[in-house]
Amino acid sequence: MDTTVLFKLTYGLYVVGVMDGERPVGCVINTCFQVTSKDPVLAVSLNKDNYTTEVLRRNPRFSLSIVAEKTDPMVIRIFGFQSGRTADKYAAFGYTLVDGAPAVNGLFAGRLVLDAFDFVDCGTHDVVLARLVDTVPGEGVPMTYDYYHREIKGTAPKNAPTYVEALTEPVTAEAPEAQPESKKYRFECDICGYVVEWDEPELPADFVCPLCGVDVTHFHRIQA
Ligand SMILES: Cc1cc2nc3c(=O)[nH]c(=O)nc-3n(C[C@H](O)[C@H](O)[C@H](O)COP(=O)(O)O)c2cc1C
Repeated sequence: MDTTVLFKLTYGLYVVGVMDGERPVGCVINTCFQVTSKDPVLAVSLNKDNYTTEVLRRNPRFSLSIVAEKTDPMVIRIFGFQSGRTADKYAAFGYTLVDGAPAVNGLFAGRLVLDAFDFVDCGTHDVVLARLVDTVPGEGVPMTYDYYHREIKGTAPKNAPTYVEALTEPVTAEAPEAQPESKKYRFECDICGYVVEWDEPELPADFVCPLCGVDVTHFHRIQA
């Protein structure tokens, strides 16, 4: 079976937000579609390991922010590559409560508020069915998953349903054969797997991962 045909499926990008008691949590997803038009029901695919999924089982009210092409890409990096178990993803952006659900501040194409009512077990992921309870209009062109790959040069982590090993090969600053002598050291981000090649044995103290936004303490040296 040629599974590359799956690459022809189209998606958007969204940020799910849900309150964990007093604390907002959430994550990026690329899988959302409208199931019915009357009394609209939507479906999202959530990895069972995501903290967001765990919280959603306790608190069914969530927001879905529709990412636009002009949405700050840091939102995707922070909400898509870190876990709410350990990170406060909203710290850099702030949030607004919409009908009790946290919506990360910033430019988005629109916001939906939904109530999850069924979790369909699909193995690694649950397909969560949710009823629409409110909408907030936004601005900008909705970002497609294809645009994210082409323009933002983004990748998908293991928890994304569309994750493919070959598509998430480490990104190198320059092809080794282009400049064999110049970059002597390689460092890998332990959050998102981004690989950077560098002349010096240490990265600068203010180095920030261009993919997921974490600081230099998350980089470790790998073989040159
Ligand atoms: C582009 C992109 C698409 C993603 N799509 C999904 C998705 O559809 N479903 C999912 O469960 N996780 C998806 N993820 C992964 C989660 O956002 C990621 O595992 C996140 O760290 C989970 O955070 P949490 O543990 O705080 O819930 C995606 C991530 C990125 C960057």
